[in-house]
Amino acid sequence: MSLVRINNLSKTFHTANGDVNALRNINLNIEEGDIFGIIGLSGAGKSTLVRCINFLEIPTDGTVYFEDKDLKELSHKELLRARQSMGMIFQGFNLLEQRTAIKNICFPLEIAGVSKADAEKRARELLEIVGLSDREKSYPSQLSGGQKQRVAIARALATNPKVLLCDEATSALDPNTTRSILALLKEINEKMGVTVIIITHEMSVIEQICNRVAVIDKSRIVEEGSVREIFANPQSDMARQLILPKGAIKSIDDFVTIRLVFDGLSSYQPVIANLVMECNVPVNIMYANTKDVNGTAAGEMIIQIPESSLDKVRGYLKRTGIKYKEEM
Ligand SMILES: Nc1ncnc2c1ncn2[C@@H]1O[C@H](COP(=O)(O)OP(=O)(O)O)[C@@H](O)[C@H]1O
Ligand SMILES: [Mg+2]
Repeated sequence: MSLVRINNLSKTFHTANGDVNALRNINLNIEEGDIFGIIGLSGAGKSTLVRCINFLEIPTDGTVYFEDKDLKELSHKELLRARQSMGMIFQGFNLLEQRTAIKNICFPLEIAGVSKADAEKRARELLEIVGLSDREKSYPSQLSGGQKQRVAIARALATNPKVLLCDEATSALDPNTTRSILALLKEINEKMGVTVIIITHEMSVIEQICNRVAVIDKSRIVEEGSVREIFANPQSDMARQLILPKGAIKSIDDFVTIRLVFDGLSSYQPVIANLVMECNVPVNIMYANTKDVNGTAAGEMIIQIPESSLDKVRGYLKRTGIKYKEEM
């Protein structure tokens, strides 16, 4: 079932320096249970889009449907209720510094009129879910970045939202902490059935947890689909720019650059060694980012081979079922 549907949405900001078209003709459909990624460079319009989803920003044109209800048709009270179904977390955590972890989590419940005792009970359940039961009395200044984001996630979940909007939620965190926060979001998605929308400029975040992704470039969506498909075969310049490692592709005369995508092949298959032997071709590995996921190879490799052996190599890759793309 569609949870968030965006139809022909545009947003223009009128500023002293003229109009800024932050979003142009956006169409998106986010299904219940999705972990939906929205990726693009800084300034592309991502934050504006996520703020339009909960109507913190009113679209200039177009429609946002939440649970099939047109948000602009809702009364103020109905809109507040819809917003309670949309939790949000940010890059800077936005915790209240004067409140302890548990009091931060209680805050949206107090606003919703929940009694203090009930709010604290719920907050303790949430602290347990995010793995911070022992830190309920800590103030934000006493917590690490990852712990602060865990408190923010617990606070966002307090009102039992249907969807969690995450705007660059891991961008201030180191790679290990990022992984643990993404794993927590995935667990919340799976165990609590919360749909997750992830805004990021990092492909590694999308790759790690999203099932679908939309690529946004200069206010427009330029590509949308399953993460697997787009990662294996990006069509738009922006998707390719975000996926392909910078500097790995340098053209050399008489050599062809090929990007190999591993998804589903056994990790134990010596793909490159076999390629060298079977085709009798010198292979230059420019970049490799492959990992073993339960015995299956995942990731990508960029190689260069002499143009004269291209036909042989194509034949080998097709035979072995490795996805590949010839780069310019
Ligand atoms: N409140 C605002 N007033 C004027 N311009 C804005 C406002 N919010 C965002 N913009 C502009 O809209 C564009 C998209 O911004 P934003 O959605 O924050 O991008 P992103 O999150 O992808 O970095 C930028 O050019 C930005 O300067
Ligand atoms: Mg932003």
